[in-house]
Amino acid sequence: MKHALVAGGTGMLSEVCTWLVNLNYHVSVIGRNPEKMNHLVEKTDKSKITSLLVDYKKVDQLDMLLKQTIIENGSLSLVVAWVHTGGEQGLERIIETVSQTSGTWELYHVLGSRAKLGEVKSDLHIPTNCSYHQVQLGFKLEEDRGRWLKNHEIAEGVMEAIQRKAPATLVGVLEPAEMRP
Ligand SMILES: NC(=O)c1ccc[n+]([C@@H]2O[C@H](COP(=O)([O-])OP(=O)(O)OC[C@H]3O[C@@H](n4cnc5c(N)ncnc54)[C@H](OP(=O)(O)O)[C@@H]3O)[C@@H](O)[C@H]2O)c1
Repeated sequence: MKHALVAGGTGMLSEVCTWLVNLNYHVSVIGRNPEKMNHLVEKTDKSKITSLLVDYKKVDQLDMLLKQTIIENGSLSLVVAWVHTGGEQGLERIIETVSQTSGTWELYHVLGSRAKLGEVKSDLHIPTNCSYHQVQLGFKLEEDRGRWLKNHEIAEGVMEAIQRKAPATLVGVLEPAEMRP
């Protein structure tokens, strides 16, 4: 069975986790809150989810759990990462460990509306066996105002990006800037 990792998978990306399970991935999910994790696990086939309950800022703990799930569930071919500011070292460690233990693999890096995609990419060390993709979250225009994306819209955008394998995907819009919520 293919193995995917979703960092921050218990929030707006929970639909992406259940979609991957339905595509017959084993899905390892990173989050801290056991209740949010249980809520996700209850929604899907429990046998295909591994909970990695860890703060991704605690890089050594993260790495230990990551290596454990790779041993138990196989090397990772797909990683989806929504990592808040301060979690950059955790993401770096995920990239390093997955690259050392996998053949070719895909990383979908989910980013906020203010992210500078080129800078984010150049700040990361992307090994040659990693195919790196960015998914930027913009906003939605509704009549005379802008609003932030809903969880379902975000998940749909990420799922579409994974299917299209495009280097960069924008979900919603970034312009006109004055309509930003
Ligand atoms: N452009 C847009 O329109 C846009 C962009 C971003 C967000 N949003 C909206 O805003 C809402 C809230 O956003 P959010 O950023 O809080 O996203 P979220 O996906 O709802 O929650 C963050 C996810 O990351 C995990 N997480 C956070 N810090 C962590 C850490 N240090 N270690 C491990 N896991 C960690 C959380 O789990 P734990 O809490 O269990 O750790 C959770 O799974 C979203 O639901 C979405 O609807 C909109």
